[in-house]
Amino acid sequence: MEVTRDRAWATLTRYTTSEALLRHALAVEAAVRAYARKLGGDEELWGAVALLHDFDYEIHPTLDKHPQDGAATLREEGYPEEVIEGVLSHANHLGLPRDMPLKKALFACDELAGFVHACGLVRPDGIETLEPRSVRKKLKQPSFAAGVNREDVYEGAAELGVDLDEHIAFVIEALRPIAPQLGLRTAS
Ligand SMILES: [Fe+2]
Ligand SMILES: [Fe+2]
Repeated sequence: MEVTRDRAWATLTRYTTSEALLRHALAVEAAVRAYARKLGGDEELWGAVALLHDFDYEIHPTLDKHPQDGAATLREEGYPEEVIEGVLSHANHLGLPRDMPLKKALFACDELAGFVHACGLVRPDGIETLEPRSVRKKLKQPSFAAGVNREDVYEGAAELGVDLDEHIAFVIEALRPIAPQLGLRTAS
């Protein structure tokens, strides 16, 4: 099977109706695609894995099923093992090695994309003028976007081998073009 964005989007939207989850998928996709361009990865493949990483979360909202039961569905649909391995690798509870740049990028962007999104939702201009400094400050406030695992954010950047501030700036920039799709306000 050829892995394309259209196919990944079709799979995602067959199992996911929640707007919040679709926005999460789009945000992680944008960030991971940007890293594919930066690191010379296969952008279509990396983007598809990012779109699909939580595709089963709505039907499997618990960690005894997500994402491992979703992997079985992806296999049935004919996705190649590199997609399935990539999807599985984002789940810390499975303890799989993140031994490829795609896996490192996905893990590094997963929680952070959600956090940057949350930061943008409480600002008058969304993420247009958001800076790493203010994201880092909010990371230190446990009550803000409490569902985001801070350890995963720090660990993800370290595993990817990027400076946290640069990583945050990179993710913000990757999300700016899709701010309207993420429900973020824009200045214009
Ligand atoms: Fe997940
Ligand atoms: Fe996720």
